[in-house]
Amino acid sequence: MQQVTFDHTLPMWRLREMSNSMLEEMRKGLRGEESSIKMLDSSVRKLPTGKETGVFYAFDLGGTSIRVIRTELRGPNEKEIVKAHKMKIPRGLMQTTATAEDLFGFIADTAKTAMEKFDDVPQPGSGAFPVGFTFSFPMTQPAIDKGILLHWTKGFDTQGVVGKDVGVLLQQALDRKNVPFKVGAICNDTVGTLVCTSLAHSSSGDRLIGVILGTGCNAAYFDPGEQTVINTEWGGYNKDLPTTAADTLIDQESPNRGQQGFEKLISGYYLGKMVLLNLRRAKPLLKIPDELLANVDLFNGSHTNQILKDQTPGLHKTDLLLRGLEPPIDWFTAEDRQDLRNICELVLNRSADLCAMALYAVLRQMGEEQATRNVTVGIDGSVYKMDIGYKERLKYTLNRLLFKEPTENRVSIVDTEDGSGLGAALVVAA
Ligand code: BGC
Repeated sequence: MQQVTFDHTLPMWRLREMSNSMLEEMRKGLRGEESSIKMLDSSVRKLPTGKETGVFYAFDLGGTSIRVIRTELRGPNEKEIVKAHKMKIPRGLMQTTATAEDLFGFIADTAKTAMEKFDDVPQPGSGAFPVGFTFSFPMTQPAIDKGILLHWTKGFDTQGVVGKDVGVLLQQALDRKNVPFKVGAICNDTVGTLVCTSLAHSSSGDRLIGVILGTGCNAAYFDPGEQTVINTEWGGYNKDLPTTAADTLIDQESPNRGQQGFEKLISGYYLGKMVLLNLRRAKPLLKIPDELLANVDLFNGSHTNQILKDQTPGLHKTDLLLRGLEPPIDWFTAEDRQDLRNICELVLNRSADLCAMALYAVLRQMGEEQATRNVTVGIDGSVYKMDIGYKERLKYTLNRLLFKEPTENRVSIVDTEDGSGLGAALVVAA
């Protein structure tokens, strides 16, 4: 246990050192030099004003599901009306045995079902609905409606998409299936989150950051010099990481080996496996079923969340949870469960600390490291929203990095709801 605790405890000086190196990588990325942080221009030059009106759609392809969002924008001071339809993406479509046609065909089918559910029956001659496509993967964007996938992340490996324009692939699938949408914009989820935050929190002007901390992890910020939103793709950061034996194994067993080093230390897709591998390291005599380690769906972030929330004596709820796994774990003693819980805490605290460190690097890049002007950071994602003290830990570490008492700090971290999808619809509308 001692070694695992040591491995996951990052002192402030270490976080500062990492933030220096991250900032350097960001600057290299911006200059177009070789860098593990790509700093991609999102081509979003215009933020919405709130005066937009009309019906807009967004398709949000996240880490595990596709959501079709219909929003009716009603102008200033009127709350938009939002409806959503969500489908889990079958694992098979993420694997290399699936083709681009399969994946985008599934999105088109889901869009069709959603349209019917929302009673949007297309009238003859009424044209296609404008749609913003939230595509949460690294892509270059030569124009707002183009997105060339650089590489997959978060366990996706569908063939025939890397190097292609996902806007074209989506439009072709929609046309093939006669689903009347016209792709008007493609957005990374962090960009969508930033755009949504800009409407809800206008006091920061354009000093804005959008962060996703869910299955994957990334941030975007508004660059006032270039007047554009930069999608940092900080998950790719690969220098000077506090990698443990468990992290190395996770990387080796992932389809994108050697990539997304930073993301693999903090995001939800890897958390469950990380906890179990560390438990195995701390207690080698415990037999943890290999199946639970081989399939990220069987023990994941939602399980670690429930374990951390367990306040019962002897961690009785955790016992029930472990017995309910497939395959079950029904031989853990109360002490084993406590160790498991401690490891969940260590892993999540490290995740929050690293995210705060990366946020600090972005603030420095924006020239806001003194935190004397209002900056709004909109955050969304399943890991951030777990109610186990994650948010508090992130804010605490950020304050320490900024050398600020919470009351002096003008960087406000706000929750955003549905930002990634809604943001893409707003970009089309703006
Ligand atoms: C992707 C990013 C995305 C993030 C959060 C990462 O794996 O590379 O583009 O923003 O996940 O979804």
